[in-house]
Amino acid sequence: MKRVYIETFGCQMNVADTERAATRLRAAGYELTDREEEADVVLFNTCSVREKAAQKVFTRIGEVRRARRRPLIGVMGCVAQLEGEALFEEGVRLVVGTRATDRLPALLERIRGGERRAIDLGERREGEVWDVSPAERHSPYVAFVPIIEGCNKFCSYCIVPFSRGREKSRPAREILAEVEQLRALGYQEVHLLGQNVNSYRPRTESERAGLEAFPGATPFARLLRAVAATGMERIKFTTSFPRDFHPDIVAAIDEHENLCDWVHLPVQSGNDRVLRMMRRGYTRADYMARVEAIKRARRRIALTSDIIVGFPGETREEFEDTVSLVRECEFDGLYIFKYSVRPGTRAAALADDVSPEEKRERFLRLEEVQREIQRRIYRGYIGRELKVLVEGRSAKSLVDLTGHSTCNKVVNFAGGPELIGRVVRVRITEAKEHSLRGELVA
Ligand code: 5AD
Ligand code: SF4
Repeated sequence: MKRVYIETFGCQMNVADTERAATRLRAAGYELTDREEEADVVLFNTCSVREKAAQKVFTRIGEVRRARRRPLIGVMGCVAQLEGEALFEEGVRLVVGTRATDRLPALLERIRGGERRAIDLGERREGEVWDVSPAERHSPYVAFVPIIEGCNKFCSYCIVPFSRGREKSRPAREILAEVEQLRALGYQEVHLLGQNVNSYRPRTESERAGLEAFPGATPFARLLRAVAATGMERIKFTTSFPRDFHPDIVAAIDEHENLCDWVHLPVQSGNDRVLRMMRRGYTRADYMARVEAIKRARRRIALTSDIIVGFPGETREEFEDTVSLVRECEFDGLYIFKYSVRPGTRAAALADDVSPEEKRERFLRLEEVQREIQRRIYRGYIGRELKVLVEGRSAKSLVDLTGHSTCNKVVNFAGGPELIGRVVRVRITEAKEHSLRGELVA
């Protein structure tokens, strides 16, 4: 039972957890494999943010169980935390909660020692550090660095506070040491991760140590300046929560070239009554004030957002407020979701009364509005130069390279493999719907 295959669903935090799980397993003598068919242990790192995401793992468990070889099946991540022992009935033998990643090898040992099943839904323990071995990172150029886990916001539709528990900020020194290590290893970009990065709040003196020298209106703004001072080439962060999005974050971006010109700030709705029902803790006007601060930045900061259509009780007029907000904000990108009931949340007590057809219509309508705006924004890049971190060959064309700009646009251009892993300048020549094309600037 030595070869482990891990399949990851969901957000970047899950990717980071998979890297951490792989680090722990390798240290305990396990072998990680990319080939499911040769694995002794198949681990699913799961997402439960919407029903469809949560269903995926059950489909995959079924597929693995029907296969002729009989690997041990384990579930980690959000579905593991929420479903717990119920997963044993699906033929799963190992259940690892969202804060038990470090104990994964110990749980596997118990099964190898003869126990039929193992489960751990507990909290992180004192002294467990969030280190990840470079060998297990998903990319040799871009690294995910969690800065805060969990969520205390309890938006009425959201399962995350249940699946990931209370907010827990990582000690500043640990984060800074990790970024410095990554820089020494040649990483060009870090993504500071958290369900709400701007809620970053180390609790004790020792957790705050390392930030003293850096000014800032909030601990997150200080952390941003401290991370910028490491000299890491590019720093991105996601996700920001509108209520706690202090304008000093924009000031920090203004001050530091390596803090990238991109902010992801999910609004969810443009109507105040719906925002109240969602328990977001801000109004449309509050949100617009944040957006205006972002738009006043010295460099143009690309802005992206998330929207939920068809929240319980959302009327057509209320939905129209979301459409008008999307027009006003002119997002560089927008992720639109149809409301999906999550059992156990406050909103689950409300009737899911917007019909599936109506949700679909609102989704398509908003998508159309956004497409028009995005086309305009993307065309605006033609003729401009962007700094692109080349991440690899384009999946669609063998002669093309692909990467991301500092403003988080996908940029494709022709070039040789020697450029992979480097930051280059690309002049944009063509705008596609979700990407840009350009030419390498010598
Ligand atoms: N239904 C639909 N979308 C949801 N999201 C979170 N919970 C739900 C839900 N119950 C969306 C939000 C969030 C994104 C990650 O997923 O827009 O910002
Ligand atoms: Fe999905 Fe949210 Fe869990 Fe990430 S934190 S895996 S988005 S439910």
